[in-house]
Amino acid sequence: MEIIKTLEGMKIAQRRRAGQRVGLVPTMGYLHDGHLSLVEKSLSTCDITVVSIFVNPKQFRPNEDLDTYPVDLKRDIKLLEDLGVAILFLPKNADMYPEGYQTYVQVEKITERLCGKSRPGFFRGVATVVLKLFNTVQPDVAFFGEKDRQQLAVIQKMVQDLNLDIQIEGLPIVRDPDGLASSSRNLYLSPQARQSALCLQEALQLAQRRVAAGETSAHKIRSAMQDVIEAHPDTRVDYISVCDPLQFNELEVIQGKTLIALAVHVGQTRLIDNCLIERI
Ligand code: PAF
Repeated sequence: MEIIKTLEGMKIAQRRRAGQRVGLVPTMGYLHDGHLSLVEKSLSTCDITVVSIFVNPKQFRPNEDLDTYPVDLKRDIKLLEDLGVAILFLPKNADMYPEGYQTYVQVEKITERLCGKSRPGFFRGVATVVLKLFNTVQPDVAFFGEKDRQQLAVIQKMVQDLNLDIQIEGLPIVRDPDGLASSSRNLYLSPQARQSALCLQEALQLAQRRVAAGETSAHKIRSAMQDVIEAHPDTRVDYISVCDPLQFNELEVIQGKTLIALAVHVGQTRLIDNCLIERI
């Protein structure tokens, strides 16, 4: 596996591609099974797979976990080498955001809700870094996980609105054996907190069962989910959303394709999860 640490190096590698289909998997490292499913999809559908690892400071607010975000580069390199990844791109902060940096990408309306509401500036940081990675790597296709469904929608909107010639592929949530959605931040959870964290999946399953049994009131679903979460120790709901999956507008009546999404603090750790349902 070639490890490239400069933007210039990445551009040179890009020129060698000679018509081959390039897949990009952007990550912040501390790779888990969700990331690896994206890498495997890229490997099976592209000629060259580039994985980037960059903990992007522009998507963290001052009180968030930038300084403690888990890092284990040695382990990540081994995982990617074992899978047969061609290029690992490790840009440096000083190259991505040199002194005097002042340009950002702001996707508007769909970033005002859910995670965008509770983490102001988050999607501005994500869209900015993803566009910079796209410009440097110039992939044909880029892969993102559906656990961050709003992030996926923001990137799709950016690609559409800025006429980028890049295909965006969203892949299903990967879960650990206990049902918790795979996330680098799961590392923060103590064994007790991990038990409590199962409330996200439990709440989603309850919602799915209730809707399947005929419940159409979004309010009742939100409130049943809240009860499930509050029954677990050390949890605090950030949001529970029953919304349309394109604009993320809250619904009153569940009809057609509906996104159920939630963010919950378990101790100090903020976790997200979601599911798509369809009621005809
Ligand atoms: O989902 C992530 O890990 C990050 O938000 C991303 C897309 C790599 C941008 O920093």
